[in-house]
Amino acid sequence: MTPRILVTRRWPASVERVLADRFDTTFNQDDTPLAPSQLSDAFRQFDAVLPTVSDKLPASVFPDKDVRTRLLANFGVGFSHIDIDAARARGMTVTNTPGVLTDCTADIALALLLAAARRAGEGERQLRAGAWTGWCPTHMIGSKVSGKTIGIIGMGRIGKATAKRAHFGFDMKVVFYNRSKVDDETVRAMGARQLASVEEMLAEADFVSLHCPGGAENRHLINAARLRAMKPGAFLINTARGDVVDQEALIAALESGQIAGAGLDVYDGEPAVPAALLRLENVVLLPHLGSATEETRVAMGMRAVDNLTAFFEGRAVPDKVA
Ligand code: DGY
Repeated sequence: MTPRILVTRRWPASVERVLADRFDTTFNQDDTPLAPSQLSDAFRQFDAVLPTVSDKLPASVFPDKDVRTRLLANFGVGFSHIDIDAARARGMTVTNTPGVLTDCTADIALALLLAAARRAGEGERQLRAGAWTGWCPTHMIGSKVSGKTIGIIGMGRIGKATAKRAHFGFDMKVVFYNRSKVDDETVRAMGARQLASVEEMLAEADFVSLHCPGGAENRHLINAARLRAMKPGAFLINTARGDVVDQEALIAALESGQIAGAGLDVYDGEPAVPAALLRLENVVLLPHLGSATEETRVAMGMRAVDNLTAFFEGRAVPDKVA
């Protein structure tokens, strides 16, 4: 029997066609996040559910009985929105889409870094408001990027891709913190130094870029004390997950000028963004665009298709996370 699958949001049209050809596919035509009760129902009705980061899947949405779903094929690399233990306890396999969004996410990290350091958002707002009075030697002075030090937290694929761009593109020195030892060709080629603690890294970095997973293990990894430990004039860049940063502490650090600025693509509780952040000039705010290119979204979709196909053909799934 053809597996029944539910796609919780609209995907690129070319991938939707592949899904519709291969599976008995239901698309959430509304393209809005499903309510918890709809997700619980879906687990009783579909063989596979294909969620995204916008679907919250805590333990409470997983039914205790009559579960039909055997595969959760996530569209995205991060999966901290899924209670993995609850999925596993229901016998579900969980997959993600690693690798294919590395470059685009690293590009957005650099875009945020440059925009924050060079006050690009602020400058654009001023110009669009008709408030630019012309070039002058003291107008909107930012921080130089080239030659500075970038500190990476989480030296996985995206961390390395960000570090490479910073080092080879902008001549930046790279220091990093990673729980396990990282010593490979990429790291050696950049002369990147692994530091023993987050604090040591914060003491050296002019720009701190976050590339670790979200969820309980890294919740508020960047808290008030660590913001205080950053160099005066330093910037924080977050393309990882909003909950890695204590947002209230970040707002306080930006308001007081304790750090120079921030570039954010992700928020704790997104799509809600605190009004205090919206009021600040020294933060660049993007609406979770890390993987948002045509090529990458298609590649993410096809990666999920590969996982689904392998699973229902009884082969090993390429991107099993649980
Ligand atoms: C991911 O893949 O985890 C992104 O945050 C969503 O594209």
